[in-house]
Amino acid sequence: MIDLELTDKKHDEARQGEALVVDAPLVRNGRKLYIESYGCQMNFADSEIVASILLDQGFETTGDYKEADVVFINTCSIRENAEQRVRNRLSQFGAEKRKNPKLIVGVLGCMAERLKSKFLEEEKLVDVVVGPDAYRELPQLLNEVESGQKAINVLLSREETYADINPVRLNGNGITAFISIMRGCDNMCSFCVVPFTRGRERSRDPHSILAEAQDLFNKGYKEITLLGQNVDSYKWKGTDTQENNENLAIEVNFAQLLEKVALISPELRIRFSTSHPKDITDEVLYTIAKYDNICNYIHLPVQSGSTRVLELMNRTYTREWYINRVDAIKRIIPDCAISSDIIAGFCTETEEEHQETLSIMDYVGYDFAFTFSYSERPGTLAARKLEDDIPEEVKKRRLAEILAKQQETSLFRLQQFVGKTVRILVEGTSKKSDKDFCGRNDQNAMVVFPATEGVKAGQYVNVHIDRCTSATLLGTVVN
Ligand code: SAH
Ligand code: SF4
Ligand code: F3S
Repeated sequence: MIDLELTDKKHDEARQGEALVVDAPLVRNGRKLYIESYGCQMNFADSEIVASILLDQGFETTGDYKEADVVFINTCSIRENAEQRVRNRLSQFGAEKRKNPKLIVGVLGCMAERLKSKFLEEEKLVDVVVGPDAYRELPQLLNEVESGQKAINVLLSREETYADINPVRLNGNGITAFISIMRGCDNMCSFCVVPFTRGRERSRDPHSILAEAQDLFNKGYKEITLLGQNVDSYKWKGTDTQENNENLAIEVNFAQLLEKVALISPELRIRFSTSHPKDITDEVLYTIAKYDNICNYIHLPVQSGSTRVLELMNRTYTREWYINRVDAIKRIIPDCAISSDIIAGFCTETEEEHQETLSIMDYVGYDFAFTFSYSERPGTLAARKLEDDIPEEVKKRRLAEILAKQQETSLFRLQQFVGKTVRILVEGTSKKSDKDFCGRNDQNAMVVFPATEGVKAGQYVNVHIDRCTSATLLGTVVN
């Protein structure tokens, strides 16, 4: 199944497991941290928090685990093969540890939270296991390991948002950055481990979010992506200090937060992820439409096109509700790009219901989709209540049909830009050739064009689109 697991290497896939590094400040303790991350953008944002905490202790980062004193692997549990990948990687670290017994190996993130102390039993080389809400304890836990014990903290919190930690940017391009605006998830989709690995949903203080965004902008960053498992349920209650020093009780929802971040500067582009079809409001859509610097792109995972399957998934919306939200997006933001996550072969899914997924894909015309075959996760509602009864070959075939449709639609959507001029934010040289530059347009499509004199990373430029593949627009800079 692994080959078909991801539709495209376009987004997160290229970053999975790469060494995450940053230039260190001056005062160091001579110790080196190697960290790599798997899973969603929130896990990558967490690795930046972890690195910040250890940099404060005098560590520096290294891109080579063979020269590290501490190796951290920030893990994902979302599907079985995500976990398998981590286990394989750990066996490589194990070989290194046999050569260098002083090496400390730590497992962080969702697998740490899901497996807890079982991890220490199952993977003997692991010294420290730390869940996503316990990263502040890392310095103490490392001390425990140095005094010869195994260390573990997997307590989940109802309050922790790491709001006061200004994260270092790992492997940063100095232009685009992620900001976590909330943690956890309360939705309990029946297939999903996230509520168990990340705990209860909590929103971060908007003052700290705005301060972080302003700080990034002051440092020259031009694009910020606001992150949460369900950004539409962002809600913060607290006080705001007025000019006359009085404290005023305030409530901030996601639309209001988006607006506040957009107002930092018209030169700062804003993206966000993930939107939940049950919660996305017209107020959010009108806010996107109102500000040019809020990108016209919404990731709105459908999961399935069948109301019966959606009910079994506990997604709490129907096919009709989803279509109504898509219609609202198309009405309020006519050139908005929409992407999705789709699961093939969920428990009891019939052939007709699979066809309903294909037909909703036709209806929406997604610009992009992440597609997965259902992977049962221990402890979830579906694992407890439903039988994982769709044979692997059927899942595989349904996934291939979904993928084929998406590739066709992605190509069709990109072809709409050919012959037009689009505004992009230059991110740097293209992965394939340093003679080419790349950047994304408002709709999040990747644009590649020959490096042009006077054009540099961090600038907005207009690019005339000459042609496209199913994943990339190709063009030339125009004045
Ligand atoms: N919070 C986001 C999704 C986060 S997980 C949302 O609600 O949309 C990313 C995606 O992984 C999900 O949208 C889903 O499509 C997929 N996924 C989650 N659990 C899965 C499982 N057990 N098997 C297959 N895919 C799964
Ligand atoms: Fe998982 Fe559902 Fe929460 Fe998304 S909304 S993280 S799929 S439980
Ligand atoms: Fe994976 Fe945890 Fe994110 S399970 S998708 S790393 S929240």
